Amino acid sequence: MNLPERLPTAAVPRSAARMADIEPFHVMQVIARAKELEAQGRTIVNMVVGEPDFPIAPLVQQAAMRVLEAGHLHYTPALGITPLREAISNWYRERYGVAVPAARIAVTTGSSGALLLTMGVLLDPGDQVLLADPGYPCNRHFVRAMDGEPVGIPVGPDTAYQLSAELVERHWTPRTKAVLVCSPSNPTGTLIPPLALRAIHEVVRARGGVLISDEIYHGLTYGPQVPTALELGDDIFVINSFSKYFGMTGFRLGWLIAPEAFMFDVDKLTGNLFISPPDIAQRAALAAFHPDTIRVLEERRELYRAQRDFLLPALKELGFDVPVVPEGAFYIYANCRRFTDDTHAFCWDVLEKAGVAITPGLDFGDNDPRHHVRFSYPKPIPLLEEGVRRLREYLAHSGSKR
Ligand SMILES: Cc1ncc(COP(=O)(O)O)c(C=O)c1O
Repeated sequence: MNLPERLPTAAVPRSAARMADIEPFHVMQVIARAKELEAQGRTIVNMVVGEPDFPIAPLVQQAAMRVLEAGHLHYTPALGITPLREAISNWYRERYGVAVPAARIAVTTGSSGALLLTMGVLLDPGDQVLLADPGYPCNRHFVRAMDGEPVGIPVGPDTAYQLSAELVERHWTPRTKAVLVCSPSNPTGTLIPPLALRAIHEVVRARGGVLISDEIYHGLTYGPQVPTALELGDDIFVINSFSKYFGMTGFRLGWLIAPEAFMFDVDKLTGNLFISPPDIAQRAALAAFHPDTIRVLEERRELYRAQRDFLLPALKELGFDVPVVPEGAFYIYANCRRFTDDTHAFCWDVLEKAGVAITPGLDFGDNDPRHHVRFSYPKPIPLLEEGVRRLREYLAHSGSKR
């Protein structure tokens, strides 16, 4: 056989174009550096990670151990085991007074799985999804991963860093398919008032779009309880999780409640993407709704409230500006214009010099990130006090604008 003298150079495979739009968590570098500093013997006050330090609730732990001891872990139905779907349905009846049939509930791998599924079921290439900026960064990436176009709408203190009907109307285009709201919000901890949510829903419905409500921080509010968007109708996609209120991040379990007409597609897609949610996590989660577990979780919620009530005034006194009281989640999103025009550099400097780890605004969107940082506060108050002490000292020496 006559081979050509030189084989043609093969084209180098490259990632899909969408990958250019999917950013890593910038804060991972801060976390890695904090770990390095700890390995060198420094103590770091870590207010970065979006989860408390508590162990899982005792009954959940015992349930998981029983499952392991029995030695059987298998695939489950794609939409989750029936007892858990029914337990979630009960939760809505008891907590919110809303009837949600188990048939509309899909148990998922974290609310991350639910968000990806929602975008996969809803979006055609180029469909736009309107989201608040600042917002949880993965939400725009879920949209992009499913070939949609996330449209960040800058929000500020005037709307409590939330979307409003007026903003949705103003940014709606013929390509808009859905609006995603998140209340309480990450990173701002602020809420959408029920009437404002109703107004957004009306605008979305009138335009033939879909409202998606990320309710992952429900249960973690420090004023009146927040109603679920499901109260407004059964045409809304609602996402929730065992990660935050239930304190089960490591189980990777959440759920999606979708309008009935979409459940066939939800079932099909989740089966293809994930086969099923994790068996052990689902069976452990059955114990999450037990009154003894809820008692533990409610005690923890009171601690988070006390932690917020300590940290919020302390940060304001240091000169951070927090124009809207965060009424939920466990975050404070602070404007630090007084200290810096580059919070990325600021966070690095605070970590190196003061040993306090906080998240730069860059991770939450394009809306003035260089003047904002996020504090994650579910930490013992003495640790928060130490963080504040260190920040005070740091700001006294290096706090003026560079
Ligand atoms: C607003 C929001 N949505 C969704 C998630 C995803 O959480 P999980 O997949 O653990 O349920 C997070 C995690 O921090 C979040 O803050």
